[in-house]
Amino acid sequence: MLYRRYLPEDFNALYAIEEACFQQPFRFGRRYMRQLVEIPNAATWIAELDGRMVGFAIVDWTGESEMVAAYIQTIEVMPSGRGRGVAGNLLARIEGSAQAARARVIWLHVDAGNVGAIRLYEASGYLRGGREENYYPRGGPALVYYKSLENMPAV
Ligand SMILES: CC(C)(COP(=O)(O)OP(=O)(O)OC[C@H]1O[C@@H](n2cnc3c(N)ncnc32)[C@H](O)[C@@H]1OP(=O)(O)O)[C@@H](O)C(=O)NCCC(=O)NCCS
Repeated sequence: MLYRRYLPEDFNALYAIEEACFQQPFRFGRRYMRQLVEIPNAATWIAELDGRMVGFAIVDWTGESEMVAAYIQTIEVMPSGRGRGVAGNLLARIEGSAQAARARVIWLHVDAGNVGAIRLYEASGYLRGGREENYYPRGGPALVYYKSLENMPAV
């Protein structure tokens, strides 16, 4: 598996993964996704096998100097590529980008019913920070998870 940063020509393959992973109304729109991958304070990592994209993850960050916080926008692996550590590796890459941007903490929302993703984050050292009702379309609740980046070795 090759892990590399996103390039503009990756967009269609990346969005095909979004369509494979999320149904409407839970899917990011094409325009919104393009904004996410193009904003300056963000990093998108791609997992690729034999030239085909298998998964991707997007992190962005806000704040200045001592107060930078990173947020995981999404992490997605094609159904055929799951269960082989791809998401764990993508997570490590986006955490590295967040550290390079001097983020002290990284956090995310996850659907309270998304057992696989919750397991992924807990296995990667994320702590549960709270719950937000009506976060998702159709009123679904989200759990908030976070992880300190301060004592992690720099990558
Ligand atoms: C969640 C998702 C990204 C996991 O991808 P993956 O490549 O299969 O995950 P990995 O193989 O790297 O697994 C990492 C850890 O999570 C666990 N895990 C991942 N999916 C799991 C599942 N469905 N059930 C139980 N555990 C799961 C693995 O067992 C592993 O834990 P371990 O190290 O203790 O064994 C993938 O299922 C996906 O793309 N889902 C749809 C999109 C989505 O919901 N994204 C999350 C948005 S918040």
